[in-house]
Amino acid sequence: MRNKITKAIFPVAGLGTRFLPATKAVPKEIMTLVDRPLIQYAIDEARAAGIREFIFVTSRGKSALEDYFDHNPQLEAELRRKDKKEILEVLKTTNMDSGAIAYIRQHKPLGLGHAVWCARRLMGNEPFAVILPDDVIAADKPCLQQMIEAFEENPGNMVAAMEVPAEKASNYGMLDIESEQGNLVAVKGMVEKPKQDPPSNLAVIGRYLLMPEVLKNLNKKSAGANGEIQLTDAIAQEITEGRPVYGYRFQGERFDCGSKAGFLQATVAFGLAREDLRDELSVYLRAIMHVDKAAQ
Ligand code: G1P
Repeated sequence: MRNKITKAIFPVAGLGTRFLPATKAVPKEIMTLVDRPLIQYAIDEARAAGIREFIFVTSRGKSALEDYFDHNPQLEAELRRKDKKEILEVLKTTNMDSGAIAYIRQHKPLGLGHAVWCARRLMGNEPFAVILPDDVIAADKPCLQQMIEAFEENPGNMVAAMEVPAEKASNYGMLDIESEQGNLVAVKGMVEKPKQDPPSNLAVIGRYLLMPEVLKNLNKKSAGANGEIQLTDAIAQEITEGRPVYGYRFQGERFDCGSKAGFLQATVAFGLAREDLRDELSVYLRAIMHVDKAAQ
């Protein structure tokens, strides 16, 4: 088995119901933070971490995603003609090498575990990454890269981990902690969306490095929380079978772009991080904060 991680699965089959009506015609992953679709942030992070093969698990109505990663010769020729070099460069970041990208359909919405399982034939017998594009992470060193470096020291299943308030635990996969060393947490159990008594305050965030055995665990297709086939359960089974699972406390700020509030926060944060927008946006934010205060 090779230990180098070069393949990543992007589960993008979700209906995006929380963002209806926008997602009636536009896949959630194409919604933009400033001027880039959510999926572009996930791809950039994966590329920076050395991922070379990108596997999208899609569903009906997601063809805009395939178009997004395709070359657009007409648009490129037009930009060249107008000498718009900068935009052309930006556009190039959306292009994928031939054969680097694959699309698999998840025919039924049976859960995240099932979506990952749908990609099993493309994965081979090697560890792989899973990235949930809803979780956008702003970090000096991209989160996946931090994890891959930790994985090289401590090979084993690894999930990104972050503390969440107790009342939010039922939204996440939650970790049962065995021991901690630095950023690495040895995990002795995992529960998907616990209704009560979460085993800790450490939640799984949407970055995973997984051993191929997890795909075999998913073969059993047993339903878990919300009646869905859960990735968390297949990873937890690894612990039962004696293989290590680690949580990785990453450095960086995570935005839950699967929720409206999180998406808006990310829009403000990424806007303020942009040199071309920072001044105008911060003047505006200060002005409306002032108006808010005056109204109180
Ligand atoms: C998924 C996972 C969950 C994880 C979360 C992170 O849940 O099932 O374990 O904590 O992503 O964002 P979802 O948000 O898709 O319901």
